[in-house]
Amino acid sequence: MPQFPVARPRRLRATPALRRLLRETRVSADNLVMPLFARPGKGVRRPIASMPGNFQFSVDELAKEAREIHKLGVPAILLFGIPDKKDEKASGAHAKHGIVQTAVRAVKDAVPEMVVVTDVCNCEYTSHGHCGIVRKRRDGALDVDNDATLELLARSAVSHAGAGADIVAPSDMMDGRVAAIRRALDQAGFEQTPIMSYAAKFASGFYGPFRDAAESPPQFGDRRTYQMDCANGDEAMREVALDVAEGADIVMVKPALAYLDLVRRVKERFGLPTAVYNVSGEFSMVKAAARNGWLDERAVVMELMTAFRRAGADIIITYWAKDVARWLGE
Ligand code: PBG
Repeated sequence: MPQFPVARPRRLRATPALRRLLRETRVSADNLVMPLFARPGKGVRRPIASMPGNFQFSVDELAKEAREIHKLGVPAILLFGIPDKKDEKASGAHAKHGIVQTAVRAVKDAVPEMVVVTDVCNCEYTSHGHCGIVRKRRDGALDVDNDATLELLARSAVSHAGAGADIVAPSDMMDGRVAAIRRALDQAGFEQTPIMSYAAKFASGFYGPFRDAAESPPQFGDRRTYQMDCANGDEAMREVALDVAEGADIVMVKPALAYLDLVRRVKERFGLPTAVYNVSGEFSMVKAAARNGWLDERAVVMELMTAFRRAGADIIITYWAKDVARWLGE
């Protein structure tokens, strides 16, 4: 037996009620955003093989899904579009009656209270699958032309806001895109539309299943000349600082699991509403293990959500949003 009073942290863990009282971090449905994929057609719910439980929805089905998400208490969705035609200039990305624009209108009609966030990027709309206009560089390599792409992004953002999007979320990682989008939104009379920027977005193997879901894998090369190197934390701070200076209202770190140190740094350094994107590969790997009976999905998912919040995330974008909301309500 110890001679002197010793620290006994276990005193505070003795019962479920005590543990509940002492929990430092709480996860609520209020924190969640559910990503959804819109595709052409009617009455379509096409399962995404690598992301069990997720679908490409035609717009009518997507509006129904949004209603169900709202009923579960999830306040927001993030929309991606799969157009019927792709071209070199991503024309579908900023078309007035493009797939995302149509989906936004349908959701806002069906569930006006739903916060509709739109992903602003070109990769789902380009025939080559890159996030912007591809040009030959001086050294002869094909690459995404930064400034030519800015104009497209600004047009997309304005068209999304015009369709009724509540927040626009550029995910392309071009330099200066937040400023370009802010300027274009303001000029078009959307000075009240916030920008959630994918500020520190890394070139990641964890996006694999998403590229199936959105039918957007690059047809040549990769995204390493625009998305960040996973080794670089200080550079991530510089990227976020630029987006904040350019007018980002919410900043995001993506992916989540391997980057929680950066969520903490971003939250502490900038104090802005901070989002984390729990990406497709992070979802699929847990799903696969759970389906094999190797881990308990619910326990693991709640542990992950809690970790995102503990790291400093205010907003969690996750394909588990519906499940988490359901579990929290039980
Ligand atoms: C589009 C975009 C991607 C994701 C979100 N927006 C794919 C990519 O950058 O290749 C990934 C989301 C996920 O993996 O869940 N640029």
